Amino acid sequence: MYIEDVAEKPTQAQLRLLRAHLPYSLPVLRRLQVAAGAFDGINSGGTIGSGTSEYAHVLFAYDQDYVPSEIDTEVPFAAAFVDLSKTPETATWIYASDQDQSLPIGTNVYAADNDQPESWVVDRGAELVSTWSPARRARCRRLVLALLRRIRTIARDVAPILAALLPARFGIPGTVDDFVKHVKANIHDGIRYVLQYPGDAADDTDRAAVALTYFDAYDKWLFRFEDVPVLSQPEDKELVTGIQAGADGTDGAQPSLAWDSVRSHEDVALVISRTPIPRTVQTLLGVPGVALREKAAVDGQDGALQAWAFVGVDGSLWTLHTEPKYRGHGLAKTLAARLLRQYCGVFDATVDVPEGERDGKGDGWCAADVSAKNRQSQAVCKRLGAKRAWATSWIVVKYDSLGDDV
Ligand SMILES: CC(C)(COP(=O)(O)OP(=O)(O)OC[C@H]1O[C@@H](n2cnc3c(N)ncnc32)[C@H](O)[C@@H]1OP(=O)(O)O)[C@@H](O)C(=O)NCCC(=O)NCCS
Repeated sequence: MYIEDVAEKPTQAQLRLLRAHLPYSLPVLRRLQVAAGAFDGINSGGTIGSGTSEYAHVLFAYDQDYVPSEIDTEVPFAAAFVDLSKTPETATWIYASDQDQSLPIGTNVYAADNDQPESWVVDRGAELVSTWSPARRARCRRLVLALLRRIRTIARDVAPILAALLPARFGIPGTVDDFVKHVKANIHDGIRYVLQYPGDAADDTDRAAVALTYFDAYDKWLFRFEDVPVLSQPEDKELVTGIQAGADGTDGAQPSLAWDSVRSHEDVALVISRTPIPRTVQTLLGVPGVALREKAAVDGQDGALQAWAFVGVDGSLWTLHTEPKYRGHGLAKTLAARLLRQYCGVFDATVDVPEGERDGKGDGWCAADVSAKNRQSQAVCKRLGAKRAWATSWIVVKYDSLGDDV
């Protein structure tokens, strides 16, 4: 086992290796591309460097004693990005090459079934690993456990510093202790399952069950750039909503809205008030977004935001929202399509693609994480040509269940 630990930003070799494992590696690849500066200057706040911090680490664990010198997709590995200064937001994203092809045999990841509501499986962790051999489960556990233990060591090192620097987040009595107890991670749901239920494989020498809190089941929906419909033109300044001014039951909704972005602290406060997911002002201003706004009643003032979405720090469609009085008029799908088409290509800026060869669509993959129970969001994804792929989960891992470093 060898762990490569790089501070703050990935190397080009790490990005290239993850690109060779697309689409399965997408969340960690995108998180690393954002750490490398993909959103610099194009995010809502116009900031530079907000995709990473001096507390961030890029971790790759190899099932051999050295880093392969060339890309070899047969060499098993696991990779993580961790930035504990982002707590209580998701602090780490984890990928293991064993999750590749982790759909039922014969399933093409981009042709996964989309229209079987009766047989729609919500909790898919066990299903995703049902065909894995005991050796594959053991290897995947070994690699991911090594990353989680390294993250525990990093947490013990940085906890006192972060507590002093960010008292609002870590300085409350008790929270420094909590900070070195657990970490919030995003992970493939099959890996979540094998961490929790190690099985009894004789070749797994490290069989402790990891204690973790597991939130609702989410599906990873994948989009291909070329399948996302063109529903507005980049030069459009307005969107016609189709709502008749003054018609009954429209609650003052306007016949057209202005294309804009989420720009001000008031905008961000509204976005945060509409989502149960913890997001900070700093994080939302650090990612690109698109919004629709009413025209202001008074010249020189901003009209109220009515719909918005962001490209998140892991490249996924974040916080898609339409205010109730505008729902059912196609705003969400038009806005999400515009966002994906506008920003899919920005990730090319972080891999060594010569500027003249960039085509505005990058590797062509985009994604959304949608609750397995959220039918309205699933409907929006389908209308945008997305396909349901594997399941993903947010977990809070208890460090003391990880066992000792090996
Ligand atoms: C999900 C949400 C953004 C949809 O907004 P919207 O502007 O009403 O969506 P659209 O009008 O663009 O609808 C897009 C498609 O989804 C379908 N759809 C929308 N809501 C639906 C629902 N509740 N049930 C079934 N289908 C639905 C529409 O029929 C439409 O399909 P069509 O083009 O074939 O007619 C909105 O309901 C919302 O803000 N919900 C709360 C927040 C949320 O759940 N966000 C997603 C987090 S991942």
